[in-house]
Amino acid sequence: MKDLFDKIYKDKGPLGKWAEQAEGYFVFPKLEGPISNRMKFRGKEVITWSINDYLGLANHPEVRKIDAEAAAEYGSAYPMGARMMSGHTSLHEKLQDELASFVNKQSAYLLNFGYQGMVSTIDALVSKQDVIVYDVDAHACIIDGVRLHLGQRFTYKHNDMESIEKNLKRATKIAEQTGGGILLISEGVFGMRGEQGKLKEIVELKKKYNFRLFVDDAHGFGTLGKTGAGAGEEQGIQDEIDVYFATFAKSLASTGAFIASDKEIIDYLKYNLRSQMFAKSLQMQLVVGALKRLEMLRTMPELKEKLWKNVNALQNGLKENGFDIGTTQSCVTPVYLKGSIPEAMALVKDLRENHGVFCSIVVYPVIPKGLILLRMIPTATHTLQDVKETLTAFSAIRERLENGTYKRLSASVEAAMSNK
Ligand SMILES: Cc1ncc(COP(=O)(O)O)c(C=O)c1O
Repeated sequence: MKDLFDKIYKDKGPLGKWAEQAEGYFVFPKLEGPISNRMKFRGKEVITWSINDYLGLANHPEVRKIDAEAAAEYGSAYPMGARMMSGHTSLHEKLQDELASFVNKQSAYLLNFGYQGMVSTIDALVSKQDVIVYDVDAHACIIDGVRLHLGQRFTYKHNDMESIEKNLKRATKIAEQTGGGILLISEGVFGMRGEQGKLKEIVELKKKYNFRLFVDDAHGFGTLGKTGAGAGEEQGIQDEIDVYFATFAKSLASTGAFIASDKEIIDYLKYNLRSQMFAKSLQMQLVVGALKRLEMLRTMPELKEKLWKNVNALQNGLKENGFDIGTTQSCVTPVYLKGSIPEAMALVKDLRENHGVFCSIVVYPVIPKGLILLRMIPTATHTLQDVKETLTAFSAIRERLENGTYKRLSASVEAAMSNK
C-alpha cells in the first residue's frame, strides 16, 4: 500500500511545480508599505496594478481611523461564536440592512469570506433534483460550490448565449424528470478578462425557461452602475437577479462578503448556510469597518469617478498604443501578448526591475498556450502620471518581446523548465 503522501512528494501540483523558479517573485511576491498606487517590491518602488482596492479605500484616512477605533473598542474576538449561537449583534443586522438597500434587495446576510460563502450558498440553494448551469470561466469558488452538488450540472461556453440556451434546454429536460429546478450562475464581471456577464440577455431567457439567476459580482460591486450597485444596475436588470453576491475584498477593501435576495430566501439561507452556521461570526471590527466603507460608497461618488478616470486613461492609452486589451467592459484591464511562459517571466522581470511596474501575470493553463496576459487593476489612488509611465514601459517591453530579447534571456529558464 502507498503512503498517502507519496503523490505529494512526487508531484507538487500544476502551480506548485514551478515554485522553485517562481516563488517570491511571480507567485507569493511581497508588496510592502501602505496599500497604494506605489508600493515597495524587494525594496524598490513600483507602480502597483495588482491590488483590487478599486476605490482606494484600503488606506483612506477615514477608513484607517474607523478600523483602529473599532479594533480598540471590540478587539478582534467580539462577538464570540457563530451567528446562530452567540455571534449575533445589532451592528451585523444594521450592516445587512444597509447592504440590502444599497444593492436594491429586500434582505442580505453576511458571510465571513466570499469564497466559502459562495460555496455554501450554492450548496444551500440546490438539492439533488436541481440542475446547475454555469459559465465555464467561473471563479474557483463557484466551481467548488458546484462540486458539492449531488445532482446534474452543465457548463456553458463563456458568455455564449447559444450555449447558455442549449444548456438551459438540457437542464429543463432533466429538471422536468427529477422534479427539480434550475440555478444559473454567472459572474457580474469576469475577473481575468474583465467582461461583464451577459446578465441582460440571460434575464431575457427567463421568458422562455424557468430558472433562478445567481450572480457573483465581486468585481462589479462598487465599480459599476450609477450608484455602484454593480453589474445588474449597470445593465438595468438588478431586480431580475434572484441571488446577488459580493465580497468586501475588492471595492470595500476589507474581509467578508454578503448575499442579498428576497427576504424569504435570505431567511432560508440564514438557517441553512453551513459556512455561517458552523463558523465564527464576522468580527466586529470588520462589521464596523464595512459600515463606514459603505457610507463612503454612498456619499463619495468622486471615488468611483476617479477610478473610472484612471480606467479610461489606462484602457484608452493601451488601445491607442496598439495593445490588445480584449473585450473588457469593466475596470479589469487585461493586456494580451504572444509568447512562451519563460518569455513571460523575463518580460515581467524587466517590467518590475527596469520600469518599476508591477502587474499580475497569467499564463497557460489559465489562458491558451502561447498567450501572456498581464492583468492590471486600476484604482482611484492611481494618477495619470502612473498611467503615462506604465504606457511607456509597456511599449518598451513589447519591442523587446518582438525583437526576441526575452527569448534569449529566457533560454536558461526554459532549459530548467524542460528538466522538470
Ligand atoms: C469572482 C470572485 N468571487 C469570489 C471571490 C472570493 O472572495 P473572498 O476574497 O472574499 O473570499 C473572489 C475573490 O477574491 C472573486 O474574484
